[in-house]
Amino acid sequence: MRALITGASSGIGREMAVQLSRMGYDLVLAARSQDKLEELQRQLPTQVSIHSLDLSLESSCHALYEAVKDDLPDILINNAGFGIFGEFVTGDLDEELNLIDLNIRALHILTKLFLRDFVAAGRGTILNISSIAAFMPGPLMSSYYASKAYVQRLTEAIYGELSRHKSPVRICALCPGPVKTNFNQRAGAAFLVDGPESGPVAAYALKKMFAGKLVIIPGWPIRLLRFFIRFAGTKSLLRMMYWVQSLRRGQSA
Ligand SMILES: NC(=O)c1ccc[n+]([C@@H]2O[C@H](COP(=O)([O-])OP(=O)(O)OC[C@H]3O[C@@H](n4cnc5c(N)ncnc54)[C@H](OP(=O)(O)O)[C@@H]3O)[C@@H](O)[C@H]2O)c1
Repeated sequence: MRALITGASSGIGREMAVQLSRMGYDLVLAARSQDKLEELQRQLPTQVSIHSLDLSLESSCHALYEAVKDDLPDILINNAGFGIFGEFVTGDLDEELNLIDLNIRALHILTKLFLRDFVAAGRGTILNISSIAAFMPGPLMSSYYASKAYVQRLTEAIYGELSRHKSPVRICALCPGPVKTNFNQRAGAAFLVDGPESGPVAAYALKKMFAGKLVIIPGWPIRLLRFFIRFAGTKSLLRMMYWVQSLRRGQSA
C-alpha cells in the first residue's frame, strides 16, 4: 500500500502522512521544504520517499509523476495549496497567478496523469483538498475561493464520469472550514473562530475517503453552513462574506 501526498510538510497534508503511515502505507511526500520532509521521514514507521519540489511549476508536476509512476500509488492526495487575503483590485498579479498554478494547475495535472494510470490499472483513489470556500464567493479572498470552486467542480465531474463507467477508481473532495495550520500565516489573515487541529480533520477525511464518500465536510457547524449557503441569495451572501472576511483583519466593511 502506497500513498502520494502533496503539501506534506505541514498542516493537513502532514497529518495525513502520519496517519496513513500508522495504517501501514508507504509514502511519497512532496513539498518545497526539504528539511521538514526529512524530519517527517525520520519519524514515520513505513518507507517514505521525499520530493522537494515547487509544484506551482508545471515541470515539477511532471517530474513528480515520472518519479512515481512506475510503482503506481494506491492513493493520490492533492493537498498543496495556499490562500491570499486582500482586495482583488490591489492584489499582486504574480502572487495570484502563482496561486492558480498551485491550487488549480498542479492539482489538475496530477489528477489527469494519475487518473489515467489508475483507470488503466483498475484501482486507485484520489482525494482532492477543496474547502468550504468552494461553495460561495469570497470577497477579500477572491482568487482562493475561486480556485477551490474549480477543485470542487472538477472532482465532482470526474466522479460522475467514473460512476457512469462503473469504474473501481474513486475520487473525492475534502471541504474543511477553518483548520489550525500555517494557512493563515501564508494568507496574511486570522480566523474569526478557532478551527480544529489538523489531526481530527485528517482522520475524518481518511475515514470518509475509504468509505467512498464524494464530498467530505468535517464538523457539523461547517455542514450546517453548507446547508444554509444553498438558500442564500448571491448578493446577501456577498455582503455577509465581505463583512466576515473584513473582520479577519480588523478592517471595517
Ligand atoms: N487551514 C485551513 O483552514 C484550510 C481550510 C480549507 C482548506 N484548506 C486547504 O488545505 C490544504 C492544506 O493547507 P493547510 O491548511 O494544511 O496549510 P499549510 O500548513 O500551509 O500547508 C500547505 C502545504 O502546501 C505546501 N506547499 C505550499 N506551496 C507549495 C508549492 N509551491 N509547491 C509544493 N508544495 C507547496 C506547503 O509546504 P512547503 O511550504 O514546504 O512547500 C505545505 O506542506 C490547502 O489546499 C488549503 O487550501 C485549508
